[in-house]
Amino acid sequence: MEANIDPSQSLPLYDLIILGASGFTGKYVVKESLKFLNVPSSPLKSLALAGRNPTKLAQALKWASHPDPLPPIPILTADTTDPASLHLLCSQSKLILNCVGPFRLLGETVVAACSETGCDYLDICGEPEFMERMEVKYHEKAMETGSLVVSACGFDSVPAELGWMFNSKQWVAPAAPNQIEAYLSLESDKRIVGNFATYESAVLGVANVEQLAELRRSRPKRARPVIPGSFPPKGPMIDHQKEIGLWAVKLPSADSVVVRRTLTTLTENPHGLPGVNESPEQIKKREAFWSTIKPAHFSVKLGSKTLLGILRFIIVGMFIGLLGRNAIGRWLLLKFPSFFSLGWFRKKGPSENEVRSASFKMWFIGRGFSDTNVSQDRMKPDMEIITRVMGPEVGYVTTPIILVQCALILLSLRNNLPKGGVFPPGIVFGATDLQERLKQNGISFDLISKNAILA
Ligand SMILES: NC(=O)c1ccc[n+]([C@@H]2O[C@H](COP(=O)([O-])OP(=O)(O)OC[C@H]3O[C@@H](n4cnc5c(N)ncnc54)[C@H](OP(=O)(O)O)[C@@H]3O)[C@@H](O)[C@H]2O)c1
Repeated sequence: MEANIDPSQSLPLYDLIILGASGFTGKYVVKESLKFLNVPSSPLKSLALAGRNPTKLAQALKWASHPDPLPPIPILTADTTDPASLHLLCSQSKLILNCVGPFRLLGETVVAACSETGCDYLDICGEPEFMERMEVKYHEKAMETGSLVVSACGFDSVPAELGWMFNSKQWVAPAAPNQIEAYLSLESDKRIVGNFATYESAVLGVANVEQLAELRRSRPKRARPVIPGSFPPKGPMIDHQKEIGLWAVKLPSADSVVVRRTLTTLTENPHGLPGVNESPEQIKKREAFWSTIKPAHFSVKLGSKTLLGILRFIIVGMFIGLLGRNAIGRWLLLKFPSFFSLGWFRKKGPSENEVRSASFKMWFIGRGFSDTNVSQDRMKPDMEIITRVMGPEVGYVTTPIILVQCALILLSLRNNLPKGGVFPPGIVFGATDLQERLKQNGISFDLISKNAILA
């Protein structure tokens, strides 16, 4: 059903609109949202799909609702190259879930429309340059209009954000972490095929490295968290972690950038961000939560059970890093994704069977001090805590679960969240029940071990 919109008429107010619902990921987001539409305990009572091609949107809705009958969900036409169409969407909805990427090319107009109109915004972006640019350009405006803009509400970067917080919470004073390293292991009993748009984002991201560096140089310096102990040593390029059975190589990932932004915001707001209209109990709860979170140096590594798997990651990384620097190289990478990613990414994306067979484990190895009352000047970390976040396939299953749960929290607990502004997900959703909700939807958080380490 395509909705005819006349802006002069009073417009229907949707709880949320999924923009880019016809994409590979968007249609899985529709499927996940339908599970919560008009369920008695759910705040999601009305939903619309939006994009530039109504026929593809209708097909996506049919796919997502199968085997149930087609639900009467309006389909709205909007194009990210047409700001007026985005303003119209914003005026009709409390919240936009943006699944249109690559975000560095197509996302800014959507953030602009939301922050200008006061509509809330969540997306599944994993592109650091886009997120930081949006913060610089739209944070003030979004605070003023009351638009909450949160990027990276997907596999990038919620498991990393909630995962480091979960590890951090295990350090009970006077113990505190110095470093938390995340090791990501993508698993499947079939061949793993990644999300093409994510590969495309990584390729285009190489061209943005300079812009990101320039953006960081030009903006005012922000607070740095105080972390006990000295900066951890760099370590070898490839390491083998016996405890978790993985070889690993450092990954230039969005996760570390996002976690760093949350840590910065937390340093500036040690009790977290005040909600727009919190009850006194909620204020206490929020402050109690953030008092348990201790900052640590954070990084992400990509893990594999075999050394050969790691060499494959390094070769793909070198192809992207070297060829991504110029236009011809980028064209080649995007034209022949399967060849340059050694079969990891292809334009068609994975089949439903491949999606079902895949899963992830993200291990967090925290190293720190059992007693921070003892001077850490010359001390080496003497304690190690290992935790793990585990869940289904990352791009099409975990990402929609996370995005939809963030949306449901936003719809039901808006008063507990900041009035507006551009923020990373950890600082906005950290003190909510997001971790519990993810657990109920198949993403688990476990404490694996707490051990003394010999100096
Ligand atoms: N955070 C994570 O872990 C995670 C996971 C998965 C995906 N992602 C990101 O999500 C984004 C989408 O991925 P995908 O695999 O779904 O990509 P995709 O299949 O290419 O889908 C892109 C969507 O954007 C729409 N679109 C493109 N240009 C548009 C425009 N000018 N106006 C309105 N809509 C437009 C497309 O509409 P048409 O159907 O009309 O072409 C389609 O619905 C990518 O940036 C990807 O990196 C992130």
